[in-house]
Amino acid sequence: MRILLLGSGGREHALAWKLNQSVWTNPLYIAPGNPGTALCGKNVSLDIRDFEAVGNFCYLESIDMIVVGPEEPLVNGLYDYFKSKEELKKIYFIGPSQKGAQLEGSKAFAKAFMQRHKIPTAKYGEFTMDNYDEGVKFLQDHDLPVVIKADGLAAGKGVVICKNHVEAIAEFELLLHHGKFGEASKKVVVEEFLDGIEFSVFVLTDGKNYVILPEAKDYKRVGVGDEGMNTGGMGAVSPLPFVTRELMQRVEKRIIRPTINGLKKENIEYTGFIYFGLINVKGEPYVIEYNCRMGDPEAEVVLPRMENDIVGLFVAATQKELDKVRIRIDKRTAATVVAVSGGYPAGYETGYEITGIDQNFGKQTLIFQAGTREKDGKILTNGGRVLCVTSYGENIKEAVASSLEVLEHIDFTGIYYRNDIGYEFVPKPSAS
Ligand code: AMP
Ligand code: GLY
Repeated sequence: MRILLLGSGGREHALAWKLNQSVWTNPLYIAPGNPGTALCGKNVSLDIRDFEAVGNFCYLESIDMIVVGPEEPLVNGLYDYFKSKEELKKIYFIGPSQKGAQLEGSKAFAKAFMQRHKIPTAKYGEFTMDNYDEGVKFLQDHDLPVVIKADGLAAGKGVVICKNHVEAIAEFELLLHHGKFGEASKKVVVEEFLDGIEFSVFVLTDGKNYVILPEAKDYKRVGVGDEGMNTGGMGAVSPLPFVTRELMQRVEKRIIRPTINGLKKENIEYTGFIYFGLINVKGEPYVIEYNCRMGDPEAEVVLPRMENDIVGLFVAATQKELDKVRIRIDKRTAATVVAVSGGYPAGYETGYEITGIDQNFGKQTLIFQAGTREKDGKILTNGGRVLCVTSYGENIKEAVASSLEVLEHIDFTGIYYRNDIGYEFVPKPSAS
């Protein structure tokens, strides 16, 4: 099967690594990819925002399956574009329709969808310039803290948790009146703050059936102990000790099943991943957000724990036969530690040589490249998140320790990573 994967981050390196293991894959193209994905297939230089360019490539290269890594092309309707073209519509497409991608592309759409289908989520209000004054009043009367979100895609920066009303109203004004995120903040969602521990659950769905993939937790803050600024993700672990069978059954019954049934009822075409960003509030799971793709860096721990042939799963999804599939999961723990450029997520420099990544670190470790590029046979830094070191272990402590040990051998100017990924699950040494 001739496969094209879109994207260029650590998630796409993990997807390319998994796709490349499939007996079905021949060849694998990645657009635009990075030097890590080039180890799994052939990188092609395509602007993935240019639907015509992507379509032409698929047509000329007789692509059989396209797998979309990031959300942006999906939210902008790449699926619908493919389905509207005679020569492209038969290509197996892994990723939802534009309507389905609204689960991520519009927080107001996602909240209203959850309300229609009685899916537990924080109580909320939705505001634009048309009901601005009503929004201010809503905020003045709201309990604290209060959560304010830009409706559209804002690269993970569109959420602010406000501890007082003055700050909340200032943020509201910044978003709506001053267009902090342009189009993305023309609408704003204000919601109740939920206090609990966050985790993520992933499904692959054909719009009717679904399979549940291993759960994971990512570490969004830049600093040790979850301090400092939000990032795209500094690490992840899977599985999670507190996600018991009972909690997972609740998630399936109250969240996953009603979501899939809701998509079906509303005739929303969806073949692909759904990322459920959840929060466990005293044993009750609530949805914080939906994403229409795999998480990054969660993919770097979830995919290594999946034993199924991923192309087999994707084919079953396109045939609406996921009810015939059983997921097999590696019992081991996987942890990933993300090495970032010094200064990230604020200003940082790129173009530094990365040394040490081509050593053989053994079977228990995988290195997924994210912000890297190749020049004259050298791998250089090319982004904030540079690479993810994933290791297997018997438990979180062991897996993280292996990744940290490997990172001792990798270097670039300004390298920074958290050494406490999974910290809350590692037993503290007892005082003697
Ligand atoms: P989102 O982009 O919606 O995932 O929000 C980003 C982050 O903000 C989440 O991962 C949470 O840590 C936090 N957050 C969002 N909504 C809430 C909420 N209602 N209660 C508490 N924390 C929230
Ligand atoms: N790790 C968070 C995300 O992929 O959205």
